Amino acid sequence: MTETPARTEIGDRAAYAAAVQAAVAASAAYYGEGDSPLDDDAFDRLVRGIAAYEAGHPEHVLPESPTGKVAGGAVAGDVPHTVPMLSLDNVFSAEGLESWAAGLVRRLGREVATWSVEPKLDGLAISARYREGRLVQLVTRGDGTAGEDVSARGIAIITGLPERLAEPVTAEVRGEVLMTRAQFEAANAARTGAGHPPFANPRSAAAGSLRTKYHAYQVETTFFGYGILPLPADAGFGAGTAPELAERLRELPHSALMALLDELGVKTTADTQVAGTTCATMAQVRGRVEEIAALRADLDFGIDGIVIKADAAADQADAGLSSRAPRWAVAYKLPAVEKITRLLDVEWNVGRTGVIAPRAVLEPVEVDGSTVTYATLHNAADIERRGLRIGDHVTVYKAGDVIPRVEAPVVHLRTGEERPIEAPSACPRCGDGMDASQQRWRCVRGRACHAVASVRYAVGRDQLDIEGLGENRIDQLVDAGLITDFADLFVLTYDQVIALERMGETNTAALIAAIEAAKAKPLNKVFCALGVRGTGRSMSRRIARHFATMDAIRAADAEAFQQVEGVGPERAAILVEEIAELAPLIDKLAAAGVTLTEPGATGPAEPAGDGASGLPLAGLSVVATGSMSGPLDGLSRTQVNELIERAGGKASSSVSARTSLLVAGAKAGSKKAKAERLGVEIVTPEEFAARVAAFL
Ligand code: IVH
Repeated sequence: MTETPARTEIGDRAAYAAAVQAAVAASAAYYGEGDSPLDDDAFDRLVRGIAAYEAGHPEHVLPESPTGKVAGGAVAGDVPHTVPMLSLDNVFSAEGLESWAAGLVRRLGREVATWSVEPKLDGLAISARYREGRLVQLVTRGDGTAGEDVSARGIAIITGLPERLAEPVTAEVRGEVLMTRAQFEAANAARTGAGHPPFANPRSAAAGSLRTKYHAYQVETTFFGYGILPLPADAGFGAGTAPELAERLRELPHSALMALLDELGVKTTADTQVAGTTCATMAQVRGRVEEIAALRADLDFGIDGIVIKADAAADQADAGLSSRAPRWAVAYKLPAVEKITRLLDVEWNVGRTGVIAPRAVLEPVEVDGSTVTYATLHNAADIERRGLRIGDHVTVYKAGDVIPRVEAPVVHLRTGEERPIEAPSACPRCGDGMDASQQRWRCVRGRACHAVASVRYAVGRDQLDIEGLGENRIDQLVDAGLITDFADLFVLTYDQVIALERMGETNTAALIAAIEAAKAKPLNKVFCALGVRGTGRSMSRRIARHFATMDAIRAADAEAFQQVEGVGPERAAILVEEIAELAPLIDKLAAAGVTLTEPGATGPAEPAGDGASGLPLAGLSVVATGSMSGPLDGLSRTQVNELIERAGGKASSSVSARTSLLVAGAKAGSKKAKAERLGVEIVTPEEFAARVAAFL
């Protein structure tokens, strides 16, 4: 995977002192108000540079140096932790992980029988103290030995950390507080709405919200637990943890503690796609690390790595701790997906449906392996909500679809030179009017405003696949007044085409033949070619399969569209609206003799809708957990999910009351416990393989 990253070069003692000062200031800002001027990468490079200089010049080491300290030594608090809240050592590559594990095995003098692998949540560490099942105190990590009491604010704004546990236990729960993407967007909208500057990213938003005593607006954060430990009798929590429970907490493996948290009602990653799992071998650990890394972009909360822990309590006790971090756990760091850069300009472009969308022009910055120069801004209201100005430093991140997005301005880096972003008052493409009555602005000419783009899309490889129609050729056809939309292609004559510039007999004949052939494309391709907002290739396939004919699609109301998998109320409403708008175009297609039926599909009357009936898992929601064995040995979770879907089932990553079947391999953890509790049918990988043998 990644190489050990670069470091800031520090040449002399003065540069070293300046670097230490910069790192301490950045660290204080990061753990304080969450307004560090450095992004994570830049900070890590700086600290690595400092460490390298110190290694060569031990006599110059300054006492305030951030190396080897929890939170860079930046913060102190006044509530002592009963057990220090430590940091984690980092590795950056598969080799780094391998040698860390080998080192641990050497230190223990025995193999580690079970590893636990879970995401490293990108928020801030919190200790939550429960007395007889009631949440009584929340303390930040601080400098690791003492933190700040944030109960006043925290208890009200954290979900996932219940005010009452399912059992009246006295114990300390540890975990991470963060904001999901949606919580962050909502918090910033509320803040800018109330006239406050926006937060730069979800992490600082969570930190800032916890530490502010009073807010004039609503915010919400999410807690994920990753540990539970006993509270001693003398810590101010009554009699402390009951001795039997204290002993269990000290003896249970990490995976069992996580299941216990779940049972007590504390949120853990168990109900996310990246649930903690256990692995028997380092090969399995590597596999799960890769799976989590691959899922990262789809998550609605930030992770900045994967934590690998020795699962057994005895292994942890024997491995022990260093001053900074436990020796039984390590963080496999993933590359930063968020960077700070400058917003140079905002362009307003007209898309193929006539939508006028703003796009951020950025000072080029490398994010997760590629250079980002442009980023999506959804609409004018979005810019307003984010409180952006031209010239701002902004946080930029790559979202699930790897489209770069501008997150927020970094307000404390403003110089006063920043300018407001001006929105257009007419269509920036044709100068005609603009419909700004909806959030999404549109040229009044709709699709006709940018006909070239919509025709280009319609003839693309995944739609009608008409070769020989490049942008220039389409431009010519539009300019000559021969086409205004792609339906007009089907009535073009040989004479009209050959009259175009640079168009010989062979090319003309080929183009006419390609257009003729496109008439026979199945409905799903023709539907996709319409470029209905919110539909791409796979959604078009599902719609075509479900309805079977264009007539049935045109007759469908919002409710009927919601029968299609993946169509919710919002998308259904857009579909109805778009299809009504496209009626003249669809009429032209029908008149030109274009195929408007889907071969093999019989329409919504078909039982089970999408042809899955008769398959062994039809109508079943299936979850797989633990390590797969027998015929399924070696399949990744994705491959197992694909198998489930091939056999007609719906693959899901979390167990709920709606789950029909759990495939539980060896070392299945909390999901199995939950499935048992809910009475969900549980089968072994071997039994499951037998059921779906025909699809293996
Ligand atoms: S274990 C004593 N597990 O990462 C071991 N920490 O860089 C440390 N973190 O302070 C706790 N996800 O705030 C652990 N699954 C996870 C974590 C996690 C995020 C944070 C935690 C810790 C920091 C160290």
